[in-house]
Amino acid sequence: MALTKKLQCFWTLGLCLVVSKLSKLVKVPYVPTIYDPGFIHECVDLHNEMRGKVTPSAANMQYLHWDKDLARLAKSWTRKCKYSHNPCTAKRYSCTVDFDFIGENMYLGPINSTPKEVISLWYSERKYYNFENMTCSKICGNYTQVVWANTFKVGCAVSNCPNLLGRSAALFVCNYAPAGNEKNTNPYVKGEFCSMCKAEDCVSNLCLHVTERATQHRAGHLLMLGFILHRLL
Ligand SMILES: *[C@@H]1O[C@H](CO)[C@@H](O)[C@H](O)[C@H]1NC(C)=O
Ligand SMILES: *[C@@H]1O[C@H](CO)[C@@H](O)[C@H](O)[C@H]1NC(C)=O
Repeated sequence: MALTKKLQCFWTLGLCLVVSKLSKLVKVPYVPTIYDPGFIHECVDLHNEMRGKVTPSAANMQYLHWDKDLARLAKSWTRKCKYSHNPCTAKRYSCTVDFDFIGENMYLGPINSTPKEVISLWYSERKYYNFENMTCSKICGNYTQVVWANTFKVGCAVSNCPNLLGRSAALFVCNYAPAGNEKNTNPYVKGEFCSMCKAEDCVSNLCLHVTERATQHRAGHLLMLGFILHRLL
């Protein structure tokens, strides 16, 4: 009896050693899931931070909310490890039944890229965009989608792709609804921040429904609780 216990102990210890050796060798990077409260918070907060500081200022910028279905859509696409747009974004009502078109931003980069870095990079395309005559001198589509006033839902996901374009990379996708980037349209109406909010409150330069704000606060508290538990456990 004592012997089997001892053997069991050795066996467990040995397994632990093997596992720890292996994980050091393989160095599996941490990839947040689409249910990770920290990941969700970072994605939503960064988008709203950027949206609230556009120049010229925006009169009608909506607050962006996290959407689970859009996040699932993004995840199902990043899993395929293809650096091209999800074909459903080109067809009406093909990605979801709720919206005719869905917007999509993509990023391919180092496996330790954070949502903050990715979203900031998209926003930095602002330097190529001329608001007055709606021209773009290089690439602007990721920027204009990030600051598209009427878009109010976002869902993002990231996957590790061990061999994409010849290297190990993180593929990061955000899907947006309703889709932005309509041709010959500015992403938002220029004016004093929040001056065109309708029944909404002005929160950090963004239009946010009062009822939404209440649920958002509650959701925020739940997310925070989840985050703390996640860190503790
Ligand atoms: C748009 O405005 C910029 C800056 O004033 C100017 O350099 C550019 O030529 C304009 N483009 C068009 C198509 O008018
Ligand atoms: C977003 O950025 C990527 C990488 O620079 C680029 O290939 C892509 O065309 C951009 N998307 C849009 C909609 O402009």
